[in-house]
Order: sequence, then structure tokens, then C-alpha cells
Amino acid sequence: MCANLKFVFGILLAALVCATSLAQTARAATDADAWLRYTALDPQTARQYEHLPSKIVVLGESLVLHNATQELTSGIEKMTGRTLSANAGVNANSIILATTTQAKTLNPGLSLAEGLTGDGYWIADMKVQGFECLLITSTSERGVLYGVFGLLRRMAQGQSLARINERQQPSARIRWIDQWDNLNGSVERGYGGRSIFFESGKVREDLTRAGQYARLLASIGITTCTVNNVNAAPEVLEDSFIPQLRRIADVFRPWGVQLSVSVDLSSPKVIGGLDTFDPLDERVADWWRTKVDEIYRQIPDFAGFVVKADSEGRSGPSAYGRTHADAANVIARALNPHGGVVFYRAFVYNHHLDWRDLKNDRAKAAYDNFHPLDGKFDRNVIIQIKNGPIDFQVREPVSPLFGDLDSTNKATELQITQEYTGQQKQLCFLVPMWKDVLDFDMRVGGANTPVKEILSRGDSNQLNGFVGVANVGLDQNWMGSPLAMANLYGFGRLAWDPNLSSEQIVDEWTRLTFGNDPVVVQTIAKLQLDSWPVYESYTGPLGAGTLTNITGNHYDPGPESSEQNGWGQWHRADHQGIGMDRTIATGTGYIGQYPPEVQKLYESVSACPDNLLLFFHHVPWTYVLHSGKTVIQHIYDSHYEGAESAHDFIARWQTLAGHMEDARYRDILARFEFQAGEAVKWRDVICAWAYQMSGIPDPKGRVGSPSAKQ
Ligand code: GCU
Repeated sequence: MCANLKFVFGILLAALVCATSLAQTARAATDADAWLRYTALDPQTARQYEHLPSKIVVLGESLVLHNATQELTSGIEKMTGRTLSANAGVNANSIILATTTQAKTLNPGLSLAEGLTGDGYWIADMKVQGFECLLITSTSERGVLYGVFGLLRRMAQGQSLARINERQQPSARIRWIDQWDNLNGSVERGYGGRSIFFESGKVREDLTRAGQYARLLASIGITTCTVNNVNAAPEVLEDSFIPQLRRIADVFRPWGVQLSVSVDLSSPKVIGGLDTFDPLDERVADWWRTKVDEIYRQIPDFAGFVVKADSEGRSGPSAYGRTHADAANVIARALNPHGGVVFYRAFVYNHHLDWRDLKNDRAKAAYDNFHPLDGKFDRNVIIQIKNGPIDFQVREPVSPLFGDLDSTNKATELQITQEYTGQQKQLCFLVPMWKDVLDFDMRVGGANTPVKEILSRGDSNQLNGFVGVANVGLDQNWMGSPLAMANLYGFGRLAWDPNLSSEQIVDEWTRLTFGNDPVVVQTIAKLQLDSWPVYESYTGPLGAGTLTNITGNHYDPGPESSEQNGWGQWHRADHQGIGMDRTIATGTGYIGQYPPEVQKLYESVSACPDNLLLFFHHVPWTYVLHSGKTVIQHIYDSHYEGAESAHDFIARWQTLAGHMEDARYRDILARFEFQAGEAVKWRDVICAWAYQMSGIPDPKGRVGSPSAKQ
């Protein structure tokens, strides 16, 4: 071959290799990797990690430590191109992965355990046996894994590791995810495809996605996943099902994720052959004991149960005149010897309320049911409380139960899946909403008591914290939309540290998911941060609730569907006005469930914040808000402004053309185009309805006048 030909051939070969490796990179990082893409860092950023030791020393042997090692090795390699080699002992500069107990064998003088408990971790540069080492340690192996993810998170964002000395302690012990998967493979309120766990009444043969999910959950510090619907099929506790559950536990375990299941309280009768499920019947207690012993025999790290009882048609202790404490405790006592826990949901209400009685109020139900039981629950029972008193609406006040139940464990239940907030077809970044809840000061006993502290505090025996309803599915991108994954990520990060700001969380998530291009980071982060207020502005005005079709899909506009039925998601709109009167003076009295200073904030119509006005008060359509607008004008304006902002999302996204893979760019662009259309639909339906109810046209000529310009 002549020199020239060789040259051309060489170029062609190089181009081929380059194209292949680019294609491989593109294939390697997919939506399934979510925020764990470990995209190659630009050379300048990668250079700052040149000083990292190139050896890795792992003290101890376990599946979790094995995964921690693999993750670290492959993450560093993908991001920097450097390969870590395994070393048996510390005889060179090394990255050391070890529990504190193991680490002390290297350097007994080190007060490693100081301040670290449970899953907390410490990443530190230090001299070990004369070598410069980077130690990642925790009292638990799971904590070591969390430390590895913490280190990789820093690197993926290009943060310095020089003289690193980072201690991280999770705010709360409870950091759980609930999935609402049915055994037939469907997912209740899931918008990301079919179940990753079940199909046709059985656990799926292929649990690859379940294992990948555990990895994602571990990377944000989630300890446990409840795999089936809270509306639980009793069959999940059949003897033949336990070995199937065990297979899920087996793929979770290497990531330090524990298995939990939702159970139906009537199981002893429905599948157990008893003629009762009365929690105070000794035979029922025996049944739970035997069942739980069998589960632990097969799944020794089983975490516990979630229970939905006497709610939305589920069986409950009321069938036998027993209390929720009786029901929770009979199960808790079976779990207690094994260290298991029961999450008992406070989402208990009568869905056949008489809507004509203006004193009836679903919002009061959780407090009315659980307040009298404070102190009566066993120590391994946790009351799982939805963030608001109704049901994951676009805006609700904080549940008054957080300010109560002093002698009971509590966890908040936040909904990551966007049931009432656009079902992942529309962008709605929920972290700012959750921050509002967590930062809300309940003024318990007249003192500063933000909800996040109520959920975090407690001695080491107290089990408080966070449960997120995620409902991912088999779709490649898990939730049906790549941008919606920021909510899952944000939930985990907040559960770990509720003091992180929405801005910090979204900045992190965007960098990890899309890389560090500043244009991309700023544009996506801002879109995410604007999305909840925009969604609220065209779907749920002034705290009236998300005006969706509540008897149907919980997605389309359907303001009439809230009224005149027993579900109690009422807004009480009529020709005179709109809003639920929940005052102590003239309304349902719901406000009386809050501590006195909070009562004062909401009881007076003039003090009540505009964004919750219609949740607490019934006012005329012409009532003037703090903003200076009337209620009806606010509704018209916010819907028009909201639809316009949703439309602007398209142009904002278009600034990112060429900044990412084209397929990814186009996929998300199409979603924004769809959302813009949905926002117009919402605007027109809600404005027409508000006009019909109020009879007041929009003076700007957009609604209700012959000259209405649509
Ligand atoms: C909502 C949701 C139901 C779910 C229920 C619950 O009402 O629409 O699908 O079962 O919450 O939290 O139990």
C-alpha cells in the first residue's frame, strides 16, 4: 500500500473507531441511567482528579462492598478514563473503602466513629500507614456505598476533592419509597409503563430493572422499597408468594435496599382460613406471628409492612369496633422480634360524605382518626401522613397531624408520581412544593417547629422520616419522562437533608443528568424551578385544589366533578362565590386542628395567604385579594398567564438545540409542545367554567363577552 493510501486508510479507520466509540458512549448512557450517567468530563475538569490514588483497597467482603467497589471503579473510569487497580493492603496511595470498625484496624488512633451513626458517611483525605489515602467510611456497609455515590456525585459536577473532609449524616432514619404496583403488572397512578416487579399475578422472571432501580435508590440514600400497591392484594402473603418476594429482596440486597410489602388487614381471613381478622383475636395475632416468622426465615433483612385500612373501601379494624392502634399493634408485635416496622397510613376518611352538609370536611379526617390514639401505638409503628389533609393536590396546607402525635413515630408521605400534577406529561418539579411543607413552622407549643425538624428529630429509637410514592415502570426512562426524574432524585436528596435548597437539588440533578454545559444547566434548572408555579397557575387557583376530573383520570380539567359527591374534594363554587369555609367560627372547624398561632394565620380571611384562600374560606367572586385583584380576575389572569408561560417553555427549550444528543432534545421538545396545548385546554375550560359560575365577564375581553378574543 502506498504511503498516501495508507494515510487515507488510517484516517478512515480513525473515523470509524471514533464513530463507533461515540455511538458506544451514546448507547452506554441512556435514560435508564438517569442521574448515574457518569459522562466523560471535559479534559480540564478531569485534570483536577489526576492526583486521586489509582489503587483501591476494600476492607471486608460483602455484596454491598462489592457493588461499592464496582461503582467507584466504573464511575471514575467513565468520567476520567483512569482505571483503579485493586490492592490487597495499604502499601501505596489508595482509595480505601471500609466500615469504621475495619478502618480502625488500619489506624487505631483515628477517632473515626465520632459523630457518625447508621448510614452516615465520611470521605477524607488522610495519611494511612504513611501513604496519602482517600478514606470512605461509615458505621454501616450501606453507608460506605452511600459515600461512594457521594464522591462520584461530586466528581460528576466537577467539584474539587482537594483536602476533602466531608461528613454526611442523614436527617432521618426513615427514607422509604413506596411503589403502587399490582400483582397483575399494572401500576396504580404509574405513568412509566408496567411494573418492574410483577406480571400476571407473579414476580417477573427477569428482575434486571428491579436491580437497576435499587442502584438508583441507593445512590440517593433510600434504604427500603415497598413493592406493591397500598391497595394490597392479600395474595402477596400467600405461602407460595414469599419465595417470589425473596427474589426481589435478593436483587435489592447488593445495593443495601430492603424489601417491604403492603398488606391487607383482612389477610388472616381471606387467605389464612380464619373466620375473622379481628386484631384483638388471639388466633389473628398468631396468624400474623407465624406469617412474619416465615417471611424472615426466607428474607432475613425484610423491612416491614405498609397498611392502608378503613380507607377508600379497604378492610379495617372498624369491622370489629377496634381502633387503628389495635390493628397496627397486632402486626407490629409480630414484626418486632425481627426488627421490622409497620407503616400505618393516616389516609383514612369516609368517601361517602354527605356533600349537602356544610360542616362535613374530608380534610379533618386524618386528625380526627389519629389524634385520640397518640401514645397508643407500639414503638415500631410509624404513622404515614400525606403532606396535606386532602390528597396530593397542587397546593394544600400542611397536614395538622405533623403538629400532633407527640408520642408517636411519624413519616410524611410525598407523591413523586404526578397523579394530580400532570402525570409526567407536563413538567412539574415538586421539590419547591415539598420544601414549602418541610419548612412550614407548625409553632407547636408556641416554639419554632418546622415540619422538617419534627420529621428528623427524636432519639435513636424514634423512627421518623420520609416516604415517597414513586411508581416507576418498565419504560426506559422509568417515569415516562426524563425531566420528571428530578422529582425522584429530589425526594431522596431532601429525605437525606431537608435543608438542601430546591436550587441546589435541581442544579445537581441537571449536571448529573445532562452534564456541566452552563447553558444547559441554567436553562433546565430554571425551567424546572418555574414549572410548579406555572402548572398551578392554570390548574389550581388560590388553594381551590387541582381542578381535575376527580372521578375519572385525575388529569384533565373537570371542576364540576369535585362537587355533589361523597369524595369530599369540594371547592363549593356557586353563583355567589367559591371556596370551602373551614374556619372555626362559621365553617367546618378544620382550622382548629392546628396549633393556636397557625389557627390565627388561617382563621381570618384578611390574614390568610392568597395562595390558600379558597382552601380555608368561601368568598365572593368579587373578593379582593392581597394582590389587589378580585378572585375572578385572578382566575382569568393566572390561567392566561400560565398558558403563555407554558408556551414559552418551548422557546426556552429550543435554546438548547445542539447542546445535547438530538434524540434527547427532540423528545423533550415534543413534551413541551404537548404541554403548551394542554395548558390552553385547561385555561379555556376553567375560565369558561368560572364565567358560567360567576356570571362575570373578563374586562380584558378574553372570557364571557361577545368580543372575547380567544
Ligand atoms: C389517591 C389515589 C389512589 C390511592 C390513594 C391512596 O386517592 O388516587 O389511587 O389509592 O390516593 O393514597 O391510598
